[in-house]
Amino acid sequence: MQAVNPHFPESGRIRDSRSGQTWRVDLGRLTCFQRWFRSSLRAKETVAAPSELLMQDAVMESSTMDRVDGNCESIVESTTGQDVHAAYDGSNVLFRLLRMISWGPGLMNLGYFRFRGPFAFLNLLINLENTQRRLVGKSIELLDVKGAQKILDVACGRGKSSFMMHCLNPEATIVGLDLLQRNIDVARLLFGCSPRLSYENGNAMHLEFESGSFDRVQCLEAAFHFPDRSRFLQEAFRVLKPGGRMVVVDFAWRQPEDRKCLEDPETRLVRDIWQWDDLYDVEEYKREARNAGFKEVETVDWSDRVTAPFQATFESLLAVRKRPWLRRRVLGVNPLLNSLSEDDWKQLEEIAKAHDYVRRRSQYMAFVFTKG
Ligand SMILES: C[S@@+](CC[C@H](N)C(=O)[O-])C[C@H]1O[C@@H](n2cnc3c(N)ncnc32)[C@H](O)[C@@H]1O
Repeated sequence: MQAVNPHFPESGRIRDSRSGQTWRVDLGRLTCFQRWFRSSLRAKETVAAPSELLMQDAVMESSTMDRVDGNCESIVESTTGQDVHAAYDGSNVLFRLLRMISWGPGLMNLGYFRFRGPFAFLNLLINLENTQRRLVGKSIELLDVKGAQKILDVACGRGKSSFMMHCLNPEATIVGLDLLQRNIDVARLLFGCSPRLSYENGNAMHLEFESGSFDRVQCLEAAFHFPDRSRFLQEAFRVLKPGGRMVVVDFAWRQPEDRKCLEDPETRLVRDIWQWDDLYDVEEYKREARNAGFKEVETVDWSDRVTAPFQATFESLLAVRKRPWLRRRVLGVNPLLNSLSEDDWKQLEEIAKAHDYVRRRSQYMAFVFTKG
């Protein structure tokens, strides 16, 4: 029998004042959860062991620091005006923080969170790579792969999303494509050596594949980088076979008027960090996809599972840092965070505010389209 804690009702509701959402609390679960929480505080290794993280960093440093002049990168950097590499090379403190928390050489997405609302701080105690994997899993579910189909994973980053597709659909043939040659190098190093999984350096807006060569196209959390998304949609339509399906997971303005914040200092900071010019609004996304020839199958708003808990986790970390007892615990769980300077933490506070500003005006969407 569980001991009943007199401070908690048998069941009740907690209201999150930020989002206005309410959460049902179940005492049985809560006491289990309390025990788990305490034991995870004691076990300082809930997050990947530091040595593992340091090794991941070493792999990434060796791949990102070497200046490889991949043809495609230099062409694209000169034609798009984006320095996409700057978003991922550790030159901004947010990326360095993400690398300490979860972003290794495998996945580079915000993640699909289990702990949300008032429980978001718990994300500080878990290995966030699972959260990132869950996001890929959700996208693959929407892709609805069948048997020996051919799949293009556009902007595959360092290759783990393509590798996951390969593991989940062993008969399918997967091609991962990314703009940055050094990402492709890491992907090949980590996930190469399978006849049905390959990686190529290329540009989403100029796909070098024959028309009608793929059954499925996925583009997960990357199209916001593309200066010409309509061109990408046309290219994706072209390379799909008739009846083919595409999943695009991307940020979008909530309403057309939200775009007005584009030049506000907060948005500028976020745009500089992540290297993007503008977003589509949700309706514009669907319209542009229709113009490219697609039919809309499904549109899902994942903001509640991705951007909102990501923001809340980020803010929890900043809050925890100001409370010495909790700070010691969190730094005990992830000692890599000790390497951030006071100046870094101040910058992170500004960055968190700026992200919240953009988050309130945007949504994190999953679009499913078909060709015919
Ligand atoms: C946020 S990461 C997402 C990576 C991967 N989908 C994942 O979930 O881990 C965005 C990726 O988009 C890639 N990218 C940006 N612009 C691109 C373009 N024009 N063509 C192909 N890839 C691009 C970047 O190199 C980066 O790897």
